[in-house]
Amino acid sequence: MIWDDLKAAADAVEGRHMLALFEDETRADAFSLDALGMRFDYSKTNIDVAARAMLIEIAREARVEAKREEMFSGAAINNTEDRAVLHTALRNLDGGPVMVDGVDVMPGVLDGLDRMQSFAEAVRSGAFPGQGGKITDVVNIGIGGSDLGPAMGTLALAPYHDGPRCHFVSNVDGAHIADTLRGLDPATTLVIVASKTFTTIETMTNARTAKAWMSETVSDPAAQFAAVSTSLEKTGDFGIASNRVFGFEDWVGGRYSMWGPIGLSLMIAVGGEAFRAFLRGAQSMDLHFRSASLEENMPVLLALVGIWHNQGCGYATRAVLPYDQRLSRLPAYLQQLEMESNGKRVAMDGSTLDVDSGPVVWGEPGTNGQHAFYQLIHQGTRVIPCEFMVAAEGHEPDLAHHHTLLIANCLAQSEALLRGRSLDEARKMMADKGFTGDELERQARHRVFPGNRPSTTLVYPQLTPEVLGQIVALYEHRVFVEGVILGINSFDQWGVELGKELATSLGPVVAGEASAEGKDGSTRALVDYVLKHRG
Ligand code: F6P
Repeated sequence: MIWDDLKAAADAVEGRHMLALFEDETRADAFSLDALGMRFDYSKTNIDVAARAMLIEIAREARVEAKREEMFSGAAINNTEDRAVLHTALRNLDGGPVMVDGVDVMPGVLDGLDRMQSFAEAVRSGAFPGQGGKITDVVNIGIGGSDLGPAMGTLALAPYHDGPRCHFVSNVDGAHIADTLRGLDPATTLVIVASKTFTTIETMTNARTAKAWMSETVSDPAAQFAAVSTSLEKTGDFGIASNRVFGFEDWVGGRYSMWGPIGLSLMIAVGGEAFRAFLRGAQSMDLHFRSASLEENMPVLLALVGIWHNQGCGYATRAVLPYDQRLSRLPAYLQQLEMESNGKRVAMDGSTLDVDSGPVVWGEPGTNGQHAFYQLIHQGTRVIPCEFMVAAEGHEPDLAHHHTLLIANCLAQSEALLRGRSLDEARKMMADKGFTGDELERQARHRVFPGNRPSTTLVYPQLTPEVLGQIVALYEHRVFVEGVILGINSFDQWGVELGKELATSLGPVVAGEASAEGKDGSTRALVDYVLKHRG
């Protein structure tokens, strides 16, 4: 019912040009939110006062405020795994107790952070050396949430990176680890095996390969390994001494885990203080999300824009377009965060969802994307809501003119999407170029931009550790709010299981040790091809 009403409201304004909304001079401010030094502008969407009120009501009826409190206070809201969801506790640096099953988890969290920082600082200073001297390179082996967060964050915080070089190996494709280890000195390399479960086949395969590589030149390879996992037993079985194992609890989901020990490689890169600043940024977003009214709440508004576009207007994808080269892994990070969290077809109670699940999330940094896929965004037949983000200031004062161009491009794209270019304007342009008659008409039609295409823009002062923490936490809470409104559990990921099971059964088949009998015709034929063409 609410979905029918929402769709009807979106249909009712579909033909309206958003530019008309700007006849109200207050629109930009009325449909922007300033919080924590950032500005989130959603005025270039077709959401008007009535639509916003309706969306807020949808959030209220879904009990977003109550559910938000349940999450922060440690209720087992992950109801298919019977777990609390408390990544927020990992950045609750100076907050109060957080209770899980009657026990305050904060002393353990803060101790864990101190331990992690001592180790990170020892690696950075050389107090924890490799067998050939001070650690020069760190290789983080992990996948999904055990890779994307620290990989994205290390790139994002490059201006603060004063520790050893950090490399990230995720893919089971041997090319990844081979290319990464080539040129590294095993005697000065630290390998971090990051896996919540310590069973993930890609990670364990890469970890064993790294150990074999290390053992060729280093007498005690395990001594240059550290592990991050919830399973201390399995890390011990792998041979990693417990003083280099950094554990965390099952109430931290993989894709929400970069705030704790999974962020160890990032902490080694930028140091404990910068890492804590990153946590503080996230904590400030937590406090904002938890205390601000729905109307003045950045994650809630970002979520409601998403609900409007996806479930209301029926736009199946959204593009995340950071005009920030150092955020070039953010779209990949958000793909996991959003699609693994809200790509669900069954509601909390087991019933089939009566509305589309979360959208396809994709993107690339600007301005590169402009020269690749923006053509479709501007002139394709499908509407793709765009989420632009840009810093007011870069980190390269000597290259300020680059940053001016970057911002100008970012703002120009959202303006072009809004405004478009009419057929009359295109005709005039072609006439000025000397075209006439049918050819003028034909050429002009190719140069029309329909415009009226929605986008939001997040502007932040500079990509500092604090701001990165704010941005990532903003998106985490956005996912939470969308999940609550859809009535799904955003914190499990059963959809990744079947492929894992089938890969396990296909392993011996592809190795030529078992028959493909029982597999479908296509799979059998593909296995045949592979077996014939393998050396
Ligand atoms: O397969 C999905 C997944 O479980 C993700 O949710 C997780 O981030 C990733 O695999 C890695 O898992 P682990 O940290 O247990 O190796």
